[in-house]
Amino acid sequence: MDSQPFDLVVRNARVATASDTFDADIGIRAGRIVQLGLELPRGMREIDAAGRTVTPGGVDAHCHLDQPMEAPVRMADDFDSGTRAAACGGTTTVIPFAAQQKGQSLRAAVQDYHHRAEGRAHVDHAFHLIVSDPTPQVLAEELPQLIAEGYTSFKIYMTYDDLKLDDGQILDVLEVARRHDAMAMIHAENADCIEWLSKRLEAGGRTAPRFHAHARPLLVEREATHRAIALSELVDVPIMIVHVSGREAVEQIRWARAHGLNVFAETCPQYLFLTAEDLGIDDSYLGARCVCSPPPRNRDNQQVIWNGLADGLFTIFSSDHAPFNFEGTQGKRPNGEEVAFRHIPNGIPGIETRLPLLYSEGVLKGRITLNRFVELTSTNPAKAYGLHPRKGTIAVGSDADLVVWQHGPRTLRNEALHHAVDYTPYEGIELQAWPALTLAGGEVVWDGRDFHPRPGAGRFLRRGRPSLLPARPDAA
Ligand code: URP
Ligand code: ZN
Ligand code: ZN
Repeated sequence: MDSQPFDLVVRNARVATASDTFDADIGIRAGRIVQLGLELPRGMREIDAAGRTVTPGGVDAHCHLDQPMEAPVRMADDFDSGTRAAACGGTTTVIPFAAQQKGQSLRAAVQDYHHRAEGRAHVDHAFHLIVSDPTPQVLAEELPQLIAEGYTSFKIYMTYDDLKLDDGQILDVLEVARRHDAMAMIHAENADCIEWLSKRLEAGGRTAPRFHAHARPLLVEREATHRAIALSELVDVPIMIVHVSGREAVEQIRWARAHGLNVFAETCPQYLFLTAEDLGIDDSYLGARCVCSPPPRNRDNQQVIWNGLADGLFTIFSSDHAPFNFEGTQGKRPNGEEVAFRHIPNGIPGIETRLPLLYSEGVLKGRITLNRFVELTSTNPAKAYGLHPRKGTIAVGSDADLVVWQHGPRTLRNEALHHAVDYTPYEGIELQAWPALTLAGGEVVWDGRDFHPRPGAGRFLRRGRPSLLPARPDAA
């Protein structure tokens, strides 16, 4: 061993992984963790983490960055501002979506998305696919080829006119996931019910943002979740139900698990920290800021989601960051206008606040353990989408993606965030922790005060077989 074996040593860390919490020095060389131990020799650089918890960098497995939208709407964050915000909030890997438009080849969507990321990302990234047009060519050739090339997950929508698949198409796509070992993510809301309810609301002049929640009640999510589970059972393939919002979908997922089905589930901060009242208690347009789908519910449902985070029902906690400005002409007010609820771009920002919110309100308030926090925000997303153990843990051989935590009160203010969105739905929340330091590939990207840009240093990750999928019967 040479006299200076480490580029960097993070010393005296209280390391937390999904399974253990222990004291160690972390030796880093060439961007990877090469040794964990006590009293490691000095490195070229040293960071003292005495008294601090150190977790693996967050893996945000559900976020939307620079996703093409219909004009005039445009996402506020691209790969530059989106991954900047991610890094400052402790997230070192992001998996946004390469979305196929109907009539477009899947390959073209992927190429376009690479072009958007090129030279801009500050942290490592991979792409999920969104399959909106499962033609015979897509099913037989493009999708299997892309899975083989490392795009080992895709999202299926049961709602939104431009993206939704019917049940037959969903079965076809799930069959490809089964045959080629991909993780299928499902947005479960019943499109026809939403359309029927929306028309009735509009006919009655009820078009304010708050009616978005009336058009998408819990049963709309429950029915689609039930159907998604049945379709996956028919094909005999695991699925990930994304952005689960409340009791009724949770009950369907518990039922599926109790029957031995491989149904994974994701939830997001908006279902813990927002309610339908944030969409407005009157007809104010301010509520447009919190329009997302499924919509936030009520306090009882927030508790159901907390219970699912604590007891293992949820596999993953993602941001579903979908960044649209409130002011201007390209976001929540298309062309500068206050539009009826069904024309408000869906989604809210959250890529930077995901980890501090869950750490403060979950770990420090005793609702979930620190190890469960790591599992939900880093380890399981890495396992679900074929990135583990390179990502999602603190182990010899893993990438040196680390977060050093600082405890102490801090009021969440949008002006202190690093995304390009002009609001946060969490303005004014009192946090009890924030990343004091984020390391991505062994480099400091956030030091608790300043962001250290490294555009283009974030690498594209070709992913492997999702390790949460059951072992193949023919595997040794
Ligand atoms: O409202 C949301 N969640 N917008 C983002 C797109 C999606 O369905 O995840
Ligand atoms: Zn969705
Ligand atoms: Zn989403």
